[in-house]
Amino acid sequence: MPNFKVSTISTQDVTMAAAEGQSLMEALRDSGFEDIQAFCSGSCSCATCHVIIDADWFAKLPPVSEEESDLLDSIEGRLATSRLACQIPISGALEGMAIMVPPAA
Ligand code: FES
Repeated sequence: MPNFKVSTISTQDVTMAAAEGQSLMEALRDSGFEDIQAFCSGSCSCATCHVIIDADWFAKLPPVSEEESDLLDSIEGRLATSRLACQIPISGALEGMAIMVPPAA
């Protein structure tokens, strides 16, 4: 069960364990990160699961699809390492990844 370092506007590096097979969105939501609203439940159509990935980890993730990129373009605050958490499957290869959860819009 990989562990992640999650920061929010008010907390720094909270450790979150997540089960392989779920998405990063599901892990964050189930861990109580309320800014992950996930209105579409992971079908890549709402952009309310926006996260910012540590730059060192960003390149290790699956590539951003055109659909995901279009959705990210629709939000304010997209950064170079922004992702939609529902599009990131949890795997052991991501052990220790650092994630920032921005405030919900
Ligand atoms: S949960 Fe809706 S786009 Fe990720």
